[in-house]
Amino acid sequence: MVTPSTAIFTQSYRSCFAPLIPLLTSKKKCHEIIVRLTGSKNACGQGNCGACSVLLSEFDHKSQTIRHVTVNSCITPLFYVHGCAVTTVEGIGTSRDGLHPVQKSLVQMHGIQCGFCTPGMVVSLCCLLRNNPTPTKADVERAIEGATTNHDGGPIIFISCHRVEELQAISVNDKKLEFGAAVTFTKMEDHIRKLEIEGAKPVVSAFLACIQSLASDQLRNVAVKFVGFYKTPRKRPVGSAGTTTALVLDTGGHFIAYLEGLSPKIIKLDVFSYLPETERTIQSLSLDKFDRILRKRLSEEKAETRDDLVNLSAGVLQKFQAVVNETTPEAESPHSELPIHCRSDIIFDEVPDSQPQTDPVWRPLPQTTAEDLVSGQAMFIDDMPSYQNELHLCLVLGKRARAKLVHVDWSAVKACPGVVDWIDHTSLNGRNMWGIMAADEEIFASKEVVYWGQPIGAVVAESREQATHAAEKVRIDYEEMQPVLTIEDAVKLESFIEGAVVIERGDGTEGFLRSNQVVEGTIGTGAQEHLYLETNGAIGVPKREQHEIEMFVTHQAPTFIQKSIASCLGIPFNRVIVRHKRTGGAFGGKESQPVKICVPVALAAQRTGRPVRGILTREQDMAITGKRHPYQFQYKIGFSKDGVLQALEVKVYSNAGCSRDVSLEVLDCTLNFIEGCYAIPNVKIEGRLCKTNTVSNTSFRGFGIPQAYVAMETIIDHVAHVLKIGSKQTVFHRKHSYKKRGIAMMAIRFQMGYPVSLLNQSTALVHVYLDGSVSLSHGGCEIGQGLNMKIQQIASRALSVPLSKIHIAENSTNTVANATATVGSCTTDLVGAAVLNACGEITNRLQPFKEKKPNASWEELIIDAYLNRISLSVMAQGRPGDGGVYYYTYGAGCSTVEIDCLTGEHKVLSTDIVMDVGRSLNPGIDVGQIEGAFMQGYGMMAVEEWTLNDRGEVESKNPSRYRVPDVGNLPRDFNVTLLSDSPNKQAIVYSSKVILQQKVFT
Ligand code: FES
Repeated sequence: MVTPSTAIFTQSYRSCFAPLIPLLTSKKKCHEIIVRLTGSKNACGQGNCGACSVLLSEFDHKSQTIRHVTVNSCITPLFYVHGCAVTTVEGIGTSRDGLHPVQKSLVQMHGIQCGFCTPGMVVSLCCLLRNNPTPTKADVERAIEGATTNHDGGPIIFISCHRVEELQAISVNDKKLEFGAAVTFTKMEDHIRKLEIEGAKPVVSAFLACIQSLASDQLRNVAVKFVGFYKTPRKRPVGSAGTTTALVLDTGGHFIAYLEGLSPKIIKLDVFSYLPETERTIQSLSLDKFDRILRKRLSEEKAETRDDLVNLSAGVLQKFQAVVNETTPEAESPHSELPIHCRSDIIFDEVPDSQPQTDPVWRPLPQTTAEDLVSGQAMFIDDMPSYQNELHLCLVLGKRARAKLVHVDWSAVKACPGVVDWIDHTSLNGRNMWGIMAADEEIFASKEVVYWGQPIGAVVAESREQATHAAEKVRIDYEEMQPVLTIEDAVKLESFIEGAVVIERGDGTEGFLRSNQVVEGTIGTGAQEHLYLETNGAIGVPKREQHEIEMFVTHQAPTFIQKSIASCLGIPFNRVIVRHKRTGGAFGGKESQPVKICVPVALAAQRTGRPVRGILTREQDMAITGKRHPYQFQYKIGFSKDGVLQALEVKVYSNAGCSRDVSLEVLDCTLNFIEGCYAIPNVKIEGRLCKTNTVSNTSFRGFGIPQAYVAMETIIDHVAHVLKIGSKQTVFHRKHSYKKRGIAMMAIRFQMGYPVSLLNQSTALVHVYLDGSVSLSHGGCEIGQGLNMKIQQIASRALSVPLSKIHIAENSTNTVANATATVGSCTTDLVGAAVLNACGEITNRLQPFKEKKPNASWEELIIDAYLNRISLSVMAQGRPGDGGVYYYTYGAGCSTVEIDCLTGEHKVLSTDIVMDVGRSLNPGIDVGQIEGAFMQGYGMMAVEEWTLNDRGEVESKNPSRYRVPDVGNLPRDFNVTLLSDSPNKQAIVYSSKVILQQKVFT
């Protein structure tokens, strides 16, 4: 008999399945069968991102073949894998036993950044190759659809009896196509693809396109029914669209459509249950009637949401109707949307032939840890093996946006199994306050909660599941108050943090007088979630002496993490060692925010005397961490009739959230960059920070500048519109009724160097060992941007030793102290300056021995120096120039976009970016960063939409409710050029310019 405990695993099995196992078998048996492998990652826990993909291979007795599919292990019930071979990335290839060709090409082609999701991508591609050794580009795109980026999807209903033959049945005749209830979408698609129904080609294609638009292969391989998302962007050109699922099915000359709409409030539409049987075909359903039905069904919804859903659903239907009736041009049919495959050109300067092969600078070399990342051997925080006696921590989060805490009752927690401790604001020996620029936010809310999701305390238990279960038992009585949620509310109530910041130049009054025309307007930008793949987490290991504690934290600011733990625990900095190997993506979101989990973990470890692990779930992470600041810009611009800008006045309001964090510094950047590349003689810009009852917003790639550029480009559009410049009816537009195309160009600049001089410093520690190998430590954090690789390249040239001799083990506060955070795109230059100084000193110390023995090898020189008692360890500071701005980097981008006016879908047809990065230290890394940052900027502008409800509760609480770009959103033609022959004359490191944040704007 098949029972979960007899499930067969022929390869490997990962704990990602663990959350579901307790439902199916005893705890003991689970632990017996779990082999702790680290390759597949739990990044969302909801089947949205593909980071946990594993390969299932199953023998199909009917066809006598082996079927290979990928599934998301985080949501796949254990019983589903019975009888299957389960292959995780470890079973595909390792650096020790040899990499699979897929892994090798990801390494060679720079297909890795932070690497957290890479193993999932490897599994998906290997599965594809097993099924199809000669895949097309479209097959490859489809295979990694769910593995590369977070992806749209939704709750899935698995059919537990998926091996019941009757439920797998597929029958077809000329009138009807029937699928058994356990037929997966993949099987359905395979079957439909082979169908040959006369005259039904457009409908079959449309139906296939519908299936393919449902989530990813990993989900379609196991899902039999979706409450999911049709791949329509949340953002439409006008207003915001809802999301809906549309399945269209041919029934002998007619077709029916089944729609499910899903707004953040989970509204389910079943149009056809409202129609008489005879009218369940699109031909017999007028759009007016459809509109009425939907509006009735959605009568309780907000007007805006209702309109969006109705418009979108009607558009989808109208489009299908037009396609099937063949009343639209070929170019507007779904055929035109099916694979226009991605292509891309990358252009950069090759190194000169005269450069020695051993000199790695300026070469597009893969990261030295790339092989470990593609094979899942690279360790992130939650991959670290459990300590003996380890405890687990789960935060208790407030569920009001603004309320007094009347009573917090922990009594039920105490009775829960496995609970060891519970902590709140009274548990801290040090301060309950924290903040990166001002300590104005509580670690645990004491009297009042000031945003929905604010930590109130934490539970510590023997297992993660026990801690999570007990945390839900805390009873909290609130006295609710009216929250301030929006910029408009804050302005009305004058709820501000600090005073106004004003930048003024020229004479505005005079400028407006000289203008022929003056226009005014308001533009807003929303919040953006960082959605790094590795959620915030920490492991605290208390030492038995002198209050020492060792912390492993995923972060990008070692000194701030160390300082916060020390100050909250009431111990000196030197008792806190913060260690860091790598971070699975950060984008600014791990500068200050890790404090919210690492301080409770440190406190729990201190109190219990046992190691404590606290890893946020995706929902917890999205609830408690700050976002990109939402803005409102009220502008007035004056210009002459030939389009010369004369005067600009802008009032800028930033939603800082409940505390200051780095909001003022972000606002400063916004104000300073609002003019972008335009020269305006008379300018007055005034900025205010709004204090609201939302999570405190924080650093995000671009640091306030993307919002500034959005505002300025909108203002320029406004001027162009008034002057009727730039818009043109093209042949394409005349030919196409509901598809329209547009082109946009912009130029950007970004500064290297923090305006605050003291931050422009870094430290590096270089040890040379007696075998000639070099250990390098520095204050920067590897967060997927390729910092360590570039630093190794710099050190290799500076010491004239091969790259293979240099190793960066980790970043730690007890090797390099007082490090500046890895933010602001400055770290490569600052750390690079320190490494050049340290390596220069080592070279100087070796020089006398080299003069004595000009032909001596590096290893011989090291031994000579050691025998002469010359220290081979150097710590050096990098503090280029006097601080401030060292140089600017520049870039320009041009994109062509096609919009479907019926559904709001759009495609970026082409994007061309040219960036000036001086002489790129590593073009492979830089191009990857440019492409990734462009997609993040595109997500901000065209896809992502973060929302709160009226009470201040986050609606975008997980990746199912917050869509980010995926492979399908990549520009079809994506070209990146690093400006040729443009060495940086003000370079700090080898003619290069730093690169990271700026591309997000293009
Ligand atoms: S962790 Fe499983 S899909 Fe994201």
